[in-house]
Amino acid sequence: MRLKNKIAVITGAGGDIGKAIADRFSEEGAIVIASDIGLDAGKSTIESLVENGAEAQFIQTDITNPADVEALMKKVKEQYGRIDILCNNAGVNSDEKKLPDVSFEEWQQVVDVNMTGVFLGMKYAIPHMNSGSSIVNVASIAGIKGQKLVAAYSASKSSVIALTKTAATEFGRQNIRVNAVAPGIIDTKMVDSWRALDKWEILSTANALRRIGQPKELANAILFLASDESSYITGETIVIDGGTLNL
Ligand SMILES: NC(=O)c1ccc[n+]([C@@H]2O[C@H](COP(=O)([O-])OP(=O)(O)OC[C@H]3O[C@@H](n4cnc5c(N)ncnc54)[C@H](O)[C@@H]3O)[C@@H](O)[C@H]2O)c1
Repeated sequence: MRLKNKIAVITGAGGDIGKAIADRFSEEGAIVIASDIGLDAGKSTIESLVENGAEAQFIQTDITNPADVEALMKKVKEQYGRIDILCNNAGVNSDEKKLPDVSFEEWQQVVDVNMTGVFLGMKYAIPHMNSGSSIVNVASIAGIKGQKLVAAYSASKSSVIALTKTAATEFGRQNIRVNAVAPGIIDTKMVDSWRALDKWEILSTANALRRIGQPKELANAILFLASDESSYITGETIVIDGGTLNL
Protein backbone atom coordinates (compact mmCIF):
# COMPACT_ATOMS: atom_id res chain seq x y z
CA MET A 1 0.00 0.00 0.00
CA ARG A 2 2.63 2.49 -1.11
CA LEU A 3 0.03 5.13 -2.08
CA LYS A 4 -2.53 4.56 0.67
CA ASN A 5 -5.23 7.30 0.53
CA LYS A 6 -3.19 9.43 -1.86
CA ILE A 7 -5.26 11.52 -4.26
CA ALA A 8 -3.85 10.78 -7.72
CA VAL A 9 -4.79 12.52 -10.96
CA ILE A 10 -3.80 10.71 -14.16
CA THR A 11 -4.19 12.30 -17.59
CA GLY A 12 -4.58 10.18 -20.71
CA ALA A 13 -5.95 7.50 -18.39
CA GLY A 14 -8.04 5.95 -21.16
CA GLY A 15 -4.89 4.88 -23.01
CA ASP A 16 -2.95 1.68 -22.46
CA ILE A 17 -0.20 3.18 -20.32
CA GLY A 18 -2.74 5.39 -18.50
CA LYS A 19 -4.80 2.33 -17.62
CA ALA A 20 -1.73 0.47 -16.36
CA ILE A 21 -0.83 3.48 -14.17
CA ALA A 22 -4.40 3.68 -12.84
CA ASP A 23 -4.33 -0.05 -12.05
CA ARG A 24 -0.99 0.07 -10.22
CA PHE A 25 -1.85 3.26 -8.30
CA SER A 26 -5.17 1.77 -7.24
CA GLU A 27 -3.58 -1.54 -6.20
CA GLU A 28 -1.29 0.48 -3.94
CA GLY A 29 -4.20 2.24 -2.24
CA ALA A 30 -4.54 5.51 -4.19
CA ILE A 31 -7.85 7.22 -4.89
CA VAL A 32 -7.62 7.53 -8.67
CA ILE A 33 -9.02 10.43 -10.67
CA ALA A 34 -8.72 9.28 -14.25
CA SER A 35 -8.99 11.94 -16.94
CA ASP A 36 -8.94 11.66 -20.70
CA ILE A 37 -10.44 13.39 -23.73
CA GLY A 38 -12.02 10.04 -24.67
CA LEU A 39 -15.19 9.32 -22.71
CA ASP A 40 -15.58 5.58 -23.30
CA ALA A 41 -11.91 4.68 -22.85
CA GLY A 42 -11.64 6.80 -19.72
CA LYS A 43 -14.74 5.28 -18.18
CA SER A 44 -13.58 1.75 -18.95
CA THR A 45 -10.31 2.41 -17.08
CA ILE A 46 -12.10 3.06 -13.81
CA GLU A 47 -14.77 0.37 -14.21
CA SER A 48 -12.48 -2.48 -13.16
CA LEU A 49 -11.09 -0.43 -10.25
CA VAL A 50 -14.56 0.33 -8.91
CA GLU A 51 -15.61 -3.30 -9.42
CA ASN A 52 -12.67 -4.31 -7.23
CA GLY A 53 -13.92 -2.00 -4.48
CA ALA A 54 -11.45 0.84 -5.04
CA GLU A 55 -12.37 4.52 -5.02
CA ALA A 56 -11.95 5.97 -8.52
CA GLN A 57 -13.73 8.36 -10.83
CA PHE A 58 -13.45 9.58 -14.39
CA ILE A 59 -13.46 13.27 -15.33
CA GLN A 60 -13.45 14.00 -19.04
CA THR A 61 -10.79 16.60 -19.84
CA ASP A 62 -9.13 18.00 -22.93
CA ILE A 63 -5.62 18.58 -21.65
CA THR A 64 -5.03 21.30 -24.27
CA ASN A 65 -7.94 23.40 -22.97
CA PRO A 66 -6.94 25.62 -20.00
CA ALA A 67 -10.51 25.97 -18.71
CA ASP A 68 -10.98 22.19 -18.77
CA VAL A 69 -7.74 21.51 -16.93
CA GLU A 70 -8.42 24.21 -14.34
CA ALA A 71 -11.90 22.76 -13.76
CA LEU A 72 -10.46 19.23 -13.35
CA MET A 73 -7.98 20.26 -10.67
CA LYS A 74 -10.52 22.49 -8.88
CA LYS A 75 -13.03 19.66 -8.76
CA VAL A 76 -10.47 17.33 -7.21
CA LYS A 77 -9.48 19.99 -4.67
CA GLU A 78 -13.14 20.64 -3.77
CA GLN A 79 -13.89 16.95 -3.37
CA TYR A 80 -10.72 15.73 -1.61
CA GLY A 81 -9.08 18.92 -0.31
CA ARG A 82 -5.77 18.35 -2.11
CA ILE A 83 -3.88 16.70 -4.95
CA ASP A 84 -1.07 14.36 -3.85
CA ILE A 85 -0.01 12.94 -7.19
CA LEU A 86 -0.27 14.15 -10.77
CA CYS A 87 0.79 11.92 -13.65
CA ASN A 88 0.85 13.89 -16.90
CA ASN A 89 0.56 10.95 -19.26
CA ALA A 90 -1.75 12.14 -22.10
CA GLY A 91 0.09 12.26 -25.40
CA VAL A 92 -0.17 11.86 -29.15
CA ASN A 93 2.36 10.68 -31.71
CA SER A 94 3.44 12.44 -34.91
CA ASP A 95 2.86 10.92 -38.33
CA GLU A 96 6.24 10.00 -39.77
CA LYS A 97 7.54 12.57 -42.26
CA LYS A 98 10.55 14.78 -42.78
CA LEU A 99 10.53 18.15 -41.06
CA PRO A 100 9.73 20.36 -44.09
CA ASP A 101 6.66 18.21 -44.83
CA VAL A 102 5.16 18.70 -41.37
CA SER A 103 2.25 21.13 -41.65
CA PHE A 104 1.94 23.89 -39.10
CA GLU A 105 -1.37 22.39 -37.95
CA GLU A 106 0.21 18.95 -37.34
CA TRP A 107 3.06 20.58 -35.43
CA GLN A 108 0.65 22.62 -33.33
CA GLN A 109 -1.59 19.68 -32.48
CA VAL A 110 1.25 17.50 -31.18
CA VAL A 111 2.87 20.36 -29.27
CA ASP A 112 -0.49 21.38 -27.78
CA VAL A 113 -1.12 17.93 -26.29
CA ASN A 114 2.41 16.81 -25.39
CA MET A 115 3.98 20.07 -24.23
CA THR A 116 1.20 22.56 -23.42
CA GLY A 117 -0.85 19.78 -21.83
CA VAL A 118 1.97 19.05 -19.36
CA PHE A 119 2.37 22.76 -18.65
CA LEU A 120 -1.37 23.17 -18.00
CA GLY A 121 -1.53 20.07 -15.82
CA MET A 122 1.24 21.37 -13.56
CA LYS A 123 -0.01 24.99 -13.67
CA TYR A 124 -3.42 24.08 -12.31
CA ALA A 125 -2.45 21.16 -10.01
CA ILE A 126 0.54 22.62 -8.13
CA PRO A 127 -1.51 25.28 -6.25
CA HIS A 128 -3.52 22.40 -4.73
CA MET A 129 -0.42 20.36 -3.74
CA ASN A 130 1.35 20.14 -0.40
CA SER A 131 4.68 19.00 1.03
CA GLY A 132 5.18 15.40 -0.10
CA SER A 133 3.22 15.74 -3.33
CA SER A 134 4.74 14.22 -6.44
CA ILE A 135 4.40 14.90 -10.17
CA VAL A 136 5.47 12.40 -12.83
CA ASN A 137 5.52 13.54 -16.45
CA VAL A 138 5.66 11.08 -19.31
CA ALA A 139 8.32 12.10 -21.83
CA SER A 140 10.01 9.74 -24.32
CA ILE A 141 13.48 8.70 -25.45
CA ALA A 142 12.56 10.64 -28.63
CA GLY A 143 12.90 13.76 -26.47
CA ILE A 144 16.45 12.76 -25.54
CA LYS A 145 17.80 11.59 -28.86
CA GLY A 146 15.74 13.72 -31.28
CA GLN A 147 14.15 10.95 -33.33
CA LYS A 148 14.07 11.27 -37.09
CA LEU A 149 10.71 11.72 -38.87
CA VAL A 150 8.84 12.81 -35.73
CA ALA A 151 10.02 16.39 -35.22
CA ALA A 152 7.04 17.68 -33.26
CA TYR A 153 6.92 14.58 -31.06
CA SER A 154 10.65 14.74 -30.29
CA ALA A 155 10.61 18.49 -29.61
CA SER A 156 7.52 18.29 -27.43
CA LYS A 157 8.93 15.42 -25.36
CA SER A 158 12.23 17.27 -24.96
CA SER A 159 10.17 20.15 -23.57
CA VAL A 160 8.57 17.80 -21.06
CA ILE A 161 12.04 17.01 -19.69
CA ALA A 162 12.86 20.75 -19.45
CA LEU A 163 9.50 21.60 -17.83
CA THR A 164 10.13 18.81 -15.32
CA LYS A 165 13.47 20.32 -14.29
CA THR A 166 12.02 23.84 -14.11
CA ALA A 167 9.12 22.84 -11.89
CA ALA A 168 11.37 20.63 -9.71
CA THR A 169 13.65 23.60 -9.10
CA GLU A 170 10.79 26.01 -8.40
CA PHE A 171 8.96 23.76 -5.91
CA GLY A 172 11.76 21.79 -4.21
CA ARG A 173 11.64 24.03 -1.15
CA GLN A 174 7.99 23.12 -0.67
CA ASN A 175 8.97 19.44 -0.95
CA ILE A 176 6.90 18.98 -4.11
CA ARG A 177 8.92 16.64 -6.31
CA VAL A 178 8.73 16.63 -10.11
CA ASN A 179 10.20 13.83 -12.21
CA ALA A 180 9.76 12.33 -15.65
CA VAL A 181 10.01 8.97 -17.35
CA ALA A 182 11.36 8.53 -20.86
CA PRO A 183 10.00 5.30 -22.31
CA GLY A 184 11.27 3.51 -25.36
CA ILE A 185 8.82 1.52 -27.44
CA ILE A 186 5.88 0.26 -25.37
CA ASP A 187 3.19 -2.16 -26.53
CA THR A 188 0.17 0.19 -26.83
CA LYS A 189 -2.35 1.60 -29.31
CA MET A 190 0.06 4.45 -29.98
CA VAL A 191 2.35 2.16 -31.98
CA ASP A 192 -0.48 0.32 -33.79
CA SER A 193 0.18 2.13 -37.07
CA TRP A 194 3.72 0.68 -37.13
CA ARG A 195 2.77 -2.96 -36.52
CA ALA A 196 2.13 -3.76 -40.20
CA LEU A 197 5.44 -2.25 -41.35
CA ASP A 198 8.25 -4.53 -42.58
CA LYS A 199 10.57 -2.87 -40.08
CA TRP A 200 8.26 -3.63 -37.10
CA GLU A 201 10.23 -6.69 -35.93
CA ILE A 202 13.47 -4.71 -35.93
CA LEU A 203 11.85 -1.56 -34.51
CA SER A 204 10.14 -3.29 -31.63
CA THR A 205 13.20 -5.30 -30.57
CA ALA A 206 16.00 -2.75 -31.13
CA ASN A 207 17.19 -2.74 -27.55
CA ALA A 208 19.44 -4.73 -25.22
CA LEU A 209 16.54 -6.85 -23.95
CA ARG A 210 15.40 -7.58 -27.53
CA ARG A 211 11.70 -7.09 -26.81
CA ILE A 212 9.01 -4.43 -26.65
CA GLY A 213 8.15 -2.96 -23.23
CA GLN A 214 4.82 -3.58 -21.52
CA PRO A 215 2.65 -0.77 -20.07
CA LYS A 216 2.92 -2.28 -16.58
CA GLU A 217 6.72 -2.08 -16.70
CA LEU A 218 6.45 1.66 -17.22
CA ALA A 219 3.68 2.01 -14.64
CA ASN A 220 5.91 0.34 -12.03
CA ALA A 221 8.58 3.02 -12.51
CA ILE A 222 5.96 5.78 -12.40
CA LEU A 223 4.62 4.28 -9.17
CA PHE A 224 8.13 4.44 -7.66
CA LEU A 225 8.48 8.13 -8.61
CA ALA A 226 4.97 8.93 -7.36
CA SER A 227 5.59 7.23 -4.01
CA ASP A 228 7.65 8.29 -1.00
CA GLU A 229 10.21 5.61 -1.92
CA SER A 230 11.74 8.17 -4.29
CA SER A 231 11.70 10.96 -1.68
CA TYR A 232 15.20 12.27 -2.53
CA ILE A 233 14.74 12.23 -6.33
CA THR A 234 13.54 15.33 -8.14
CA GLY A 235 14.12 16.92 -11.55
CA GLU A 236 15.17 13.50 -12.89
CA THR A 237 14.15 11.68 -16.03
CA ILE A 238 14.32 7.90 -15.75
CA VAL A 239 14.84 6.10 -19.06
CA ILE A 240 12.73 2.95 -19.38
CA ASP A 241 13.65 1.57 -22.77
CA GLY A 242 15.08 -1.93 -22.36
CA GLY A 243 18.48 -0.46 -23.19
CA THR A 244 17.58 1.18 -26.52
CA LEU A 245 19.68 4.30 -26.00
CA ASN A 246 22.71 2.22 -25.01
CA LEU A 247 22.88 0.23 -28.26
N1 LIG B 1 3.69 3.65 -26.57
C1 LIG B 1 4.93 4.05 -26.69
O1 LIG B 1 5.77 3.40 -27.36
C2 LIG B 1 5.39 5.30 -25.99
C3 LIG B 1 6.76 5.59 -26.00
C4 LIG B 1 7.22 6.73 -25.36
C5 LIG B 1 6.31 7.57 -24.72
N2 LIG B 1 4.99 7.27 -24.73
C6 LIG B 1 4.08 8.20 -24.08
O2 LIG B 1 3.24 7.52 -23.17
C7 LIG B 1 2.03 8.28 -22.99
C8 LIG B 1 0.83 7.35 -23.10
O3 LIG B 1 0.79 6.82 -24.41
P1 LIG B 1 0.17 5.39 -24.81
O4 LIG B 1 1.22 4.64 -25.48
O5 LIG B 1 -0.56 4.80 -23.67
O6 LIG B 1 -0.83 5.84 -25.96
P2 LIG B 1 -2.42 5.75 -26.07
O7 LIG B 1 -2.74 6.30 -27.40
O8 LIG B 1 -2.88 4.37 -25.72
O9 LIG B 1 -2.92 6.75 -24.91
C9 LIG B 1 -2.83 8.14 -25.00
C10 LIG B 1 -4.07 8.72 -24.33
O10 LIG B 1 -3.97 10.15 -24.34
C11 LIG B 1 -5.27 10.66 -24.60
N3 LIG B 1 -5.25 12.01 -25.15
C12 LIG B 1 -4.86 12.40 -26.39
N4 LIG B 1 -5.10 13.71 -26.56
C13 LIG B 1 -5.64 14.16 -25.40
C14 LIG B 1 -6.11 15.43 -24.96
N5 LIG B 1 -6.08 16.50 -25.77
N6 LIG B 1 -6.60 15.53 -23.72
C15 LIG B 1 -6.67 14.45 -22.88
N7 LIG B 1 -6.26 13.23 -23.26
C16 LIG B 1 -5.74 13.08 -24.50
C17 LIG B 1 -5.87 9.68 -25.60
O11 LIG B 1 -7.28 9.78 -25.65
C18 LIG B 1 -5.36 8.36 -25.07
O12 LIG B 1 -6.29 7.75 -24.19
C19 LIG B 1 2.06 9.38 -24.06
O13 LIG B 1 2.47 10.60 -23.48
C20 LIG B 1 3.12 8.88 -25.03
O14 LIG B 1 3.72 9.90 -25.77
C21 LIG B 1 4.50 6.15 -25.35
